[in-house]
Amino acid sequence: MAHEISEAVYAQLLEALGPDGLSREDDVRLAYGHDETEDLSHPPAVVARPSTTQQVSAVVRICARHAIPITPIGGRTGLSGGALCTLGGVGLALDRMSVIEHIDELNLQAVVQAGVITQVLQEAVAAKGLYYPPDPSSRGSCTIGGNIAENAGGPRAVKYGVTRDFVLNLEVVLPDGEVIWTGANTLKNATGYDLTRLIVGSEGTLAVITRAVLRLVPHPKETRLMLVPFASAERACEAVSATFRAGVTPSAMEFIERDAISWTMRHTEGLPAQLSADPGAYLLIEVDGDHADAIMRDCETIVNVMESFEAGEALFAETASEKDALWRMRRSVPVSVKAHSVYKEEDTVVPRYELPRLLRGVKEIGARHGFSSVCYGHAGDGNLHVNIIKGDLPDAFWEKELGTAIREIFALTVSLGGTLSGEHGIGLVQRPYMDIAFNAAQLGVMRAIKQAIDPQGIMNPGKVLP
Ligand code: LAC
Ligand code: ZN
Repeated sequence: MAHEISEAVYAQLLEALGPDGLSREDDVRLAYGHDETEDLSHPPAVVARPSTTQQVSAVVRICARHAIPITPIGGRTGLSGGALCTLGGVGLALDRMSVIEHIDELNLQAVVQAGVITQVLQEAVAAKGLYYPPDPSSRGSCTIGGNIAENAGGPRAVKYGVTRDFVLNLEVVLPDGEVIWTGANTLKNATGYDLTRLIVGSEGTLAVITRAVLRLVPHPKETRLMLVPFASAERACEAVSATFRAGVTPSAMEFIERDAISWTMRHTEGLPAQLSADPGAYLLIEVDGDHADAIMRDCETIVNVMESFEAGEALFAETASEKDALWRMRRSVPVSVKAHSVYKEEDTVVPRYELPRLLRGVKEIGARHGFSSVCYGHAGDGNLHVNIIKGDLPDAFWEKELGTAIREIFALTVSLGGTLSGEHGIGLVQRPYMDIAFNAAQLGVMRAIKQAIDPQGIMNPGKVLP
């Protein structure tokens, strides 16, 4: 049931936000009613675009008074439907709160509003010799608030950690409109329950994130980037955990199957000429650091490990523009898959050594049900994006049998010690599978937390919890 907004409530919202901050025009509602999840469209009844925390609080208070659903909206790049306004109500977009308030070079911290674009922050801190490593493929349009809500990862997580590992403190608006900070601006904190970590990854179901204090690190001075071809995708996956066991932690270790490479290559300019899409899979491996000789030694170790898994010759990016082209190619894989066919994406994650077993199992499940899949992802984290391709499969399969196949993929993932999502979140589309990862007692704890913080259930209803 779409939740409509009465004229009286609209007038209250208008008074809180002013005409620039509120819209119920169809084109605006539609624009804010989708993210990057499949082709789903769930527009809100109104789009609220506050420009201050006080305005966010005022909107939430109005919604709380009238039990109106609120869906926080970031850069609309999500892949689990977390920002879709499935019950209508108020779509609360944070895109006008996009100020980097402070880059603290003494403490290596940044204070940012939730609507700051991730890449904008990365470039601002890089100009000061600092690094904010979490870098989802959508970094050019996703926002820090959305990254925190989904606990986004990306390629650099393998060495530096995910968004969670960079959040020190959060300003949030609770479902009754109260504004609180969740912790302190310190690296260590053993003071009470960790509300900061509770909010990170809560997908807008507990509070609206308005400001964040983020940890920064010194920017590494140099990187080397190599693309290593493998005839066998499974052998490529086996080489991943062996690399870490050899004592090297790359700053990125990405797996890309053949189809993903060939669909993407066509649209990417400036790639090294020797690159071909013939091999079964590639590993894209980056090593960073401050000392060229140490980086070279790590690269040699990696090449030796790769050879023992029957890799072809590693192709090193020789120039900054080749590096840039390889990364552009990697980042455009999701878009290329989407352009190729209707598809369904799962964000499976397992302990890294289990990656070959996960890949093999996914292909076996596909063979049994008659679908093909294209896999890529953050191999160093054991995080495999499984893209099930619709191609010419009948709609009936897509609507019925596919759900069974996805349950099998998740059951396999969990049996290998993994879980449903590494970085895309549960949101709307993975919610029916939560029982595979959690039993009634575990879900009960989560429901109790939700109930304690949002007793009316107005904060992003219909997400995460089944
Ligand atoms: C990526 C996104 C889809 O890895 O997570 O490109
Ligand atoms: Zn990813």
